[in-house]
Amino acid sequence: MAIYEQFKHKCAEEVAVQGADPVLGRASREWINLANARKYSYHFEWLGRPIIQYPQDILAMQELIWLVQPDLIIETGIAHGGSLIFSASMLELNAFCGGPQNAEVLGVDIDIRAHNRVAIEAHPLSRRVSMIQGSSISPEITAQVKAKAAGKKSVLVCLDSNHTHEHVLAELEAYAPLTSVGNYCVVFDTLIEDMSAEMFPDRPWGPGNSPKTAVWEYLKTHVEFEIDKGMQHKLLITVAPDGYLKRVR
Ligand SMILES: C[S@@+](CC[C@H](N)C(=O)[O-])C[C@H]1O[C@@H](n2cnc3c(N)ncnc32)[C@H](O)[C@@H]1O
Repeated sequence: MAIYEQFKHKCAEEVAVQGADPVLGRASREWINLANARKYSYHFEWLGRPIIQYPQDILAMQELIWLVQPDLIIETGIAHGGSLIFSASMLELNAFCGGPQNAEVLGVDIDIRAHNRVAIEAHPLSRRVSMIQGSSISPEITAQVKAKAAGKKSVLVCLDSNHTHEHVLAELEAYAPLTSVGNYCVVFDTLIEDMSAEMFPDRPWGPGNSPKTAVWEYLKTHVEFEIDKGMQHKLLITVAPDGYLKRVR
């Protein structure tokens, strides 16, 4: 085995042990609970745009985008545009390194605020970004996204909009099939299922009604996807436990 493969093999063994470590698991969950109460995930930027993610998940997405070399990334949930600009920047780097030259990211949001749209469209990487305003599960919007995905070779999907079970399940039904075999459909904020209901006093979602329950429901009838447990065991601190879905067939 080449040295790199040996190293990766050793890492995989270490990650499995790490993922099964109950003390580290409890400490990570406790840290997440404390950090979430401080709105930790709201305080980061990517190339000048606020990105509502944990740094660990941003690094995970970098690994995936390099691995799968998408020519299209579909994202639901734009907010300030940080995740769109992040994806655009990764696609730019892939292109610079000889990957797909015309890869792009398509964002969908029910409410693209004017100031966010202006800033995203003025960004140096905006040529790789397009946006659609509307509910991600409305038939007119899903039709537009499907049209954009037609003919693409490697499609990566990220779901990060309304976090109720019903909405995420509808998003999975609409968008997960666009994921190319070998690529990923990433469902963010599955973490909600593992938190206390008091964390979401003014939200329609919470434990029992979350992206994670939607993932579990979807996977009952979609054997073409498997949860990449290795990713969450590696990250430990992630908003997407059971949310990194790999399309295996
Ligand atoms: C958590 S934020 C997205 C964060 C962004 N992905 C990032 O990493 O910075 C959720 C976004 O979903 C949008 N949203 C809520 N309901 C939606 C729906 N039905 N369809 C599309 N977007 C929706 C909200 O307007 C909000 O901008």
